[in-house]
Amino acid sequence: MSFFNVEQAAARLNRSELAIPGSQPNMFEKAAKLPVDVIFLDLEDAVAPDEKEQARKNIIEALNDIDWGKKTMSVRINGLDTHYMYRDVVDVVEQAGERLDLIMMPKVGTASDVYAVDMLLTQIEDAKGYTKRIGLEHIIETALGMQNINEIAGASKRNESLHFGVADYAASTRARTTSIGGANSDYAVLTGGPDDDTRDVHWGDMWHYALSRLVVAARANGLRPVDGPFGDFSDPEGYKAAARRAAVLGCEGKWAIHPSQVDLANEIMSPSAADIDRAERILKAMEEAEAAGKGAVSLDGRLIDYASIRQAEVMVHKARQIADS
Ligand code: GLV
Ligand code: MG
Repeated sequence: MSFFNVEQAAARLNRSELAIPGSQPNMFEKAAKLPVDVIFLDLEDAVAPDEKEQARKNIIEALNDIDWGKKTMSVRINGLDTHYMYRDVVDVVEQAGERLDLIMMPKVGTASDVYAVDMLLTQIEDAKGYTKRIGLEHIIETALGMQNINEIAGASKRNESLHFGVADYAASTRARTTSIGGANSDYAVLTGGPDDDTRDVHWGDMWHYALSRLVVAARANGLRPVDGPFGDFSDPEGYKAAARRAAVLGCEGKWAIHPSQVDLANEIMSPSAADIDRAERILKAMEEAEAAGKGAVSLDGRLIDYASIRQAEVMVHKARQIADS
């Protein structure tokens, strides 16, 4: 291990994160009953400009009046380049800060963006006498944000998670895609050479680099990496494939832009019973090995060592978090 200690953000379950437009209060009660880990009430891109003010009022009322249970509650504010943003923070945190856990910042471009919101939050919390500190989730969804991702990730003690906003990221980088988070058949390799009779087309994942980079920046700063939206909610298999790829890379969760995607995210982002069982057996086997003075042993015909313990501990810890939720 490095001598440098990476402090971990607050431990929250973040397998599923449901987006609910602040302008659709009819959806709030139903959302509160879903088995979702995090809900973000949106003031940004799902809300038209002439509805922003009413959406803010809806959100304040809903945070105060609805029983959201143990869910983590977040509000996505407008970008720092809009005049809505300061009132989003001031009004929501002053009037509903007790029930608010996180602020989601869209299109974060630099560490100073984070500094600005951190400063504003600190002033409001101090003035109101709140003892709880509101955390920050950042959507990395511009070329600038991706370029500065490491500085953004380390910019505030409030930081909790980084999210891959694939739709805006595609727009910002001018990637050729028409779907939100889906695959593109043009991003493919052709097997073999010109003389081969049969040549296969193997699709690649055009978001692989961006998501991997986000996972590294998040983990190196003790934050949760979370994959963003998958737009086609009539394609659960496509959603699950995207969620599985994200989970394999190290993401802890994925957005749901429709209630039907919540269960899918929870399923894919939770360790399976077989994984948990194996993790528990690894811990037991290593405990026995240590008692016998050994650093590595075999389990089910495979080598396990201290690195296996760390992986198994992560798995068992996640299983406990889920059981307690
Ligand atoms: C999310 O905000 C996205 O742009 O994908
Ligand atoms: Mg976006």
